[in-house]
Amino acid sequence: MAMPEQFGARWPPSSCFCIVVLLVLLTDQVLRGAEGMSVGINYGQIADDLPSPRRVSWLLRSMQVSKVKLYDADPYVLSAFLKTDVEFVVGIGNENVSAMVDPAAAQAWIQQHVQPYLPSTRITCITVGNEVFKGNDTALKANLLPAMQSVYQALAALGLQGRVNVTTAHSLDIMGSSYPPSAGAFRPDVVPYMQPILGFLSMARSPFLINCYPYFAYKADPNSVPLEYVLFQPNPGVMDSNTKLNYDNMLYAQIDSVYAAIQALGHTDIDVKISETGWPSRGDPDEAGATPEYAGTYIGNLLQRIEMKQGTPLRPSVPIDVYVFALFNENLKPGPASERNYGLFYPDGRPVYNVGLRGYLPPMDESEGTRKAVPLFALVTIAWITLLLS
Ligand SMILES: *[C@@H]1O[C@H](CO)[C@@H](O)[C@H](O)[C@H]1NC(C)=O
Ligand SMILES: *[C@@H]1O[C@H](CO)[C@@H](O)[C@H](O)[C@H]1NC(C)=O
Ligand SMILES: *[C@@H]1O[C@H](CO)[C@@H](O)[C@H](O)[C@H]1NC(C)=O
Repeated sequence: MAMPEQFGARWPPSSCFCIVVLLVLLTDQVLRGAEGMSVGINYGQIADDLPSPRRVSWLLRSMQVSKVKLYDADPYVLSAFLKTDVEFVVGIGNENVSAMVDPAAAQAWIQQHVQPYLPSTRITCITVGNEVFKGNDTALKANLLPAMQSVYQALAALGLQGRVNVTTAHSLDIMGSSYPPSAGAFRPDVVPYMQPILGFLSMARSPFLINCYPYFAYKADPNSVPLEYVLFQPNPGVMDSNTKLNYDNMLYAQIDSVYAAIQALGHTDIDVKISETGWPSRGDPDEAGATPEYAGTYIGNLLQRIEMKQGTPLRPSVPIDVYVFALFNENLKPGPASERNYGLFYPDGRPVYNVGLRGYLPPMDESEGTRKAVPLFALVTIAWITLLLS
């Protein structure tokens, strides 16, 4: 009788089976990671060649990344990270900000995009709009704070205020002056909007987010901006004559100028976090410094400082809180070539430069319709071998 042998499990199981089980267990340990990295990563999706969110979830977890920022609240992304311990900043796009002034719309948005994922996917912050004061849409600027307030009220109605922060992300051109850092001040036309926004952030205990690109300063004036100062390389630094604090890199000077601008409007109780920073690995011929070498130096040195939990000269005991821009090169972003080349990875999962960030992007998965799914044990085997080799 061959039947029982054909269908029944043999014992002891084959060694192949044991190895697969072992790999699954070990990989699970690796993905959970004892200690995740402190850096956050912006997961932008303005591209038509990116891997599925499920594969990206593998990639980020294999890198031990535990903080991710989105520009929307893409349900495919949020569901791909259910029960993963990865913390999310989700966004309401500028095109949707004005609609959120209506409390019912804000409530509907929260109920649809945030509430269903909590607590399995950890959404800890909502950005209402991105770089609103960079454009000249005055209606949008006027609607920003009311929209933030409606979103906050909608969270509060569900008892979620405090568990989910509400803020907005600014570009550095909100600054009228930023040098020396202690003289930092917002642009006069921004102040009337910013003053009440700061009041809101203080009340809601939410952070002030700023997108900082020392690269822009270098690109604008490569002959007078020292490369070492923008790339966190050894250099004598620049002393702020008011505070006698020495700055050895431009990013910290920019952060402290924002602290000074906030303080000039009467607040010392608001944290400043970097919602974007990065360096392009490629650019147009007139874009100085956009090379893989400089991009790798900028990101590599920044990661070191983040892992050291360094603070800025003005706030030495507050570790800088940074979201790197961006996870992937994004081929559909408009503007100069640099805009499409900020990624740490190409869409196929190859790193653009080596800064010791090792990740594993599985080849494909069942969510990618036409292609055949690779069996789980094959993925796990490849993942584990990749990690061992790396
Ligand atoms: C956001 O704006 C887009 C474009 O106007 C619109 O199609 C979409 O329905 C809006 N989403 C929400 C949640 O209001
Ligand atoms: C800003 O205003 C100028 C002229 O006032 C206009 O040409 C331009 O299109 C506006 N830009 C945006 C982003 O609305
Ligand atoms: C909200 O922001 C405050 C201020 O930066 C921070 O202390 C707190 O941890 C944040 N809350 C969450 C849930 O991330």
